[in-house]
Amino acid sequence: MTLRSRIVGTGSFLPEHISTNDDMAKIVETSDAWIVERTGIRVRHFADENTYTSTMAIKAAEEALKVAGMTGDDLDAIVLGTVTPDKTFPATAVYVQAALGMKHGCAFDVVAACSGFLYSLRAADNMIRLGQAKTVLVIGSEKVSKVTDFTDRNTCVLFGDGAGCVILKAGEGKGDVSDSGVLDTLIYSDGTYAPELCSTGGASTNHEVGFVSMNGREVFRHAAVNMADVSLEILEKNGISLSDVDWLVPHQANIRIIEATAKRLNVPMDRVICTVDQHANTSAASIPLALADGIKSGKLKKGQLLLLPGMGSGFTWGASLIRL
Ligand code: UT7
Repeated sequence: MTLRSRIVGTGSFLPEHISTNDDMAKIVETSDAWIVERTGIRVRHFADENTYTSTMAIKAAEEALKVAGMTGDDLDAIVLGTVTPDKTFPATAVYVQAALGMKHGCAFDVVAACSGFLYSLRAADNMIRLGQAKTVLVIGSEKVSKVTDFTDRNTCVLFGDGAGCVILKAGEGKGDVSDSGVLDTLIYSDGTYAPELCSTGGASTNHEVGFVSMNGREVFRHAAVNMADVSLEILEKNGISLSDVDWLVPHQANIRIIEATAKRLNVPMDRVICTVDQHANTSAASIPLALADGIKSGKLKKGQLLLLPGMGSGFTWGASLIRL
């Protein structure tokens, strides 16, 4: 018998306000044509002043709890991936814990930028596999607009706000890849690339929150290679061939990165969940938002095998294999 983390609920939240590429062109020197051609992004959602990272996480969590038929107190842990916390401390996850009425267990944040959901998923899955928790809420939530420099056209058109989550519940499996649930997650980082994509601020350096600073070309180059390589590694490790994968649910930063990853993996684009056109890059929220979108649209079905690769600041990258 092997303990598996089954997905018993997913949820998502996108702020009401939508900003089109034409709206962005009123703020910086850019155009709808440039943004669509270079990134595939058409619109992004921006949270208002009173909507925090925790607010969006709570909305997504409430949806997932409803789907799972649970209350907040059924959760043993909350793991929240974010680089845009409500406050420097405490963790944004504890605000979610309080709002959901969860009076036991633990809640903590994971800082891994666009790989934040994959890192959080691995932490949560490990807790379940070790018997330390039975039910864990895993969230990616970001208010990237708060760390976006709206005078920098190189970055401000790329990001959006939102939250997505899954609820994992311990279940018994056979221990092979026919099991449903999280089959495996690999995560990596290489800190020598930290300057290529980082915040210009920090509590212990300049006492500021800072803005996104990115060497776009360098990130692009690594993203396609790392996401494809870690995908191949996780498949080989688990004895799964690419033809067994039903859907690729990648991090949504740029349609060209997604296409390059799919091409390296030889996966046709009609087996790839793409939400970057509607959400832009929502950092840690991007993969769970795409997952929730795929489930809501009916594309992703029970029993199907999903491959979720991601890459972000750090550099961090990783992939998860999940059977729904
Ligand atoms: O999730 C991880 C986080 N981030 C990413 O994954 C993003 C990775 N990088 C990218 O997606 C792409 O590198 C970008 C979308 C950021 C840029 O696309 P690119 O094809 O690599 O463009 P580029 O950096 O080579 O810039 C081409 C030109 C430049 O002009 P010059 O120097 O050739 O005259 C830029 O100044 O496009 C210019 N440019 C813009 N023009 C209109 C940059 N941003 C804009 C803009 N509108 N918003």
